[in-house]
Amino acid sequence: MRKKSIFTWTVVLFSAFILSLSGCAPRVVDHQQVAKNEEIVIKFSHVTAADSPKGLAASRFADLVRQRTGGYVEVQVFPNSTLYKDGEELDALKRGAVQMLAPATSKLSGLFPDWQLLDLPYAFPDLRHVHQLMSGPVGKKLLAELQTKKMLGLAVWDNGFKEFTDNKRPLIQPKDFRGLRFRVMPSQVLVDQFAAVGAEAYPMPFNDVGKALGTGLVDGEENTISNIYTQQFDRSQKYLTLSDHGYLGYVVLTNADFWQSLPAWVRKVLQDTLAEVTVWERAEAQKVNERQLRALEKQGKVKIRHLTPGEKEALQKAFNPAWEHLEAEIGRNLVQSVRPGIP
Ligand code: LMR
Repeated sequence: MRKKSIFTWTVVLFSAFILSLSGCAPRVVDHQQVAKNEEIVIKFSHVTAADSPKGLAASRFADLVRQRTGGYVEVQVFPNSTLYKDGEELDALKRGAVQMLAPATSKLSGLFPDWQLLDLPYAFPDLRHVHQLMSGPVGKKLLAELQTKKMLGLAVWDNGFKEFTDNKRPLIQPKDFRGLRFRVMPSQVLVDQFAAVGAEAYPMPFNDVGKALGTGLVDGEENTISNIYTQQFDRSQKYLTLSDHGYLGYVVLTNADFWQSLPAWVRKVLQDTLAEVTVWERAEAQKVNERQLRALEKQGKVKIRHLTPGEKEALQKAFNPAWEHLEAEIGRNLVQSVRPGIP
């Protein structure tokens, strides 16, 4: 009896060893049996609401990882800037205070100017073009740049296209922007975009935007419907212009040293789960933005105006200087890897 049990344990342990070497161990740990001090904890910090596309995807990722590792890996999600804000997140990742982030790509542009490519106004006719760019040579180059600062880009998630909101007048033609001040994410292309139509850009962290709109520190901002809706920007804005003028997406980032410290089978579970969640997230982001646009329409607090293709084209032309400035900064070849396009 005793001999049989020793034999059984030897087989179990040997199998687990072989599976972990092959990097494809399935669930090797039972959740019930994982002591707290044996778990791998991944703190995943982000700045948007839990019911935003990014928030929903981060929670789904956490749930699936818990199930698939039997609780051995616990992803703790901190939404809404509750742990770290814009401007603090990247440093926290570097110090190892958090292990995962999903900043808007614009927020990488201070460290990696090439990433401004994704901020160019009217650079993509649809999200498929963004996905193609990011899975091709340009995307690989951009992701490789992150490694020079010991960061690893594991996935690119969408939010969608940005719209304008403001308090002064409906923004239909380029001249309507003149003299107004808009909050932007910290990216020179976005500053240049507003300068091109005679407006002032005011970079500021996401968690400060609601207050800045409420106090009139800025007249308006640009964001996706889901951010406008979940942060209730519509409560202090009179006008919402459906311009679809710029892409907003995220890089799911980890610290390269932390990543290397993980067992191979854990990395594989995380990577496979992220790939699956990315497909889900991209579809869900579109649905969330559509659903929340309908909710804004129903609430009727903000006046909503869809731009016609001709109106979008006039804005696109007016934003041209932002493209020229970026060419001077990161080179013509890279900028020309995207083509002007109107969603
Ligand atoms: C913003 O700062 O407006 C957005 O990047 C927030 C986000 O992460 O979607």
